[in-house]
Amino acid sequence: MSKSVLLKSSLAKKYWMALTGLFLCTFLIGHLLGNLQLFAGGEEGKRAFNEYGYFMSHNIFIKILSYVTYISILFHAIDGFALAYQNKKARPVNYAYNKPSANSSWASRSMALLGSAILIFICTHMANFWWKAKYSSTPMPLHTYMVYPPMTQNAEGEEMYLTIKGSAVPKSGVVVKNGTHLFLDTKAIEEQINEIKRTNPMQELPDVSKMNSIPELGEGYKDLHSLTVSFFGHNKEKEGFRANEYALVAVILYTLSMIVLGFHLWHGFSSAFQSLGMRHPKYTPLIKGLGRAFAVVVPAAFASIPIFLYLTK
Ligand code: HEM
Repeated sequence: MSKSVLLKSSLAKKYWMALTGLFLCTFLIGHLLGNLQLFAGGEEGKRAFNEYGYFMSHNIFIKILSYVTYISILFHAIDGFALAYQNKKARPVNYAYNKPSANSSWASRSMALLGSAILIFICTHMANFWWKAKYSSTPMPLHTYMVYPPMTQNAEGEEMYLTIKGSAVPKSGVVVKNGTHLFLDTKAIEEQINEIKRTNPMQELPDVSKMNSIPELGEGYKDLHSLTVSFFGHNKEKEGFRANEYALVAVILYTLSMIVLGFHLWHGFSSAFQSLGMRHPKYTPLIKGLGRAFAVVVPAAFASIPIFLYLTK
């Protein structure tokens, strides 16, 4: 290939890498904001996270964005490998005098290596969360939460609750699992209500006749919260999942991966603007500063989530 053709093809690759890279930075912000909800404790925090997960997998606009994300990851990685290969071929022997640290940072010289490590992280991460949530043959546990406080006790002295299992809308009722979908079981509700009426006639009860007409009860929330908490948490019984005995290993690997991501972004963020031809004596230093802040804050915030879950769950 002639030198000018090579140059043109590497410029095109850099351009696409810059566009996909910046798009992936916006994905990181969105993903981080969603995941920060894992810091919220209690039943409300769990519900908020699972509602968010439900929204993310059912909103058509978000679904399109997800496909753009997958394609961007693929394009970014393929172009990155091709560019690294092209550069290596163009300069197969190192210069006799080669002191790269004099005019480039370690991060900028190691982008392909850092990128490969991030790709491995993304593949294992998606296998552990995304695949389990969407495609795994083992059905995802569904979110169960209490709607009413304990109202009464049955003959065995056990507390009775009126609960919803995995409902998309927190309305009263008992929902039973049928395959991966949930259906409102009015018979079970009636049985519970009759029992409550018998033991506690003063208790205010929901109107069962209206429950049949709640269409949102067709599909439940997948319990993404418990999936995540039991992946990084180590010392409590998690509903529906076994606690992860390798939680500490997971937390360490996630933290190391976020350090790698930080180095990749340290150079990559501002380099993307350069590849798009945005060079300006005043704004370039500003973009560089912003990129470095992004490279520290975003991976650190991501890493804080597994560490927090490990220490508290
Ligand atoms: C360390 C904290 C993180 C946690 C707790 C976390 C959690 C999750 C969860 C629960 C999902 C599944 C969502 C679903 O399928 O509905 C997911 C998907 C995903 N995560 Fe993460 N994540 C973290 C960090 C990251 C990082 C740093 C990256 C990228 C470098 C990343 C890339 C992805 C991708 C690409 C998906 C698929 C998104 C989609 O389907 O639209 N995650 N993550």
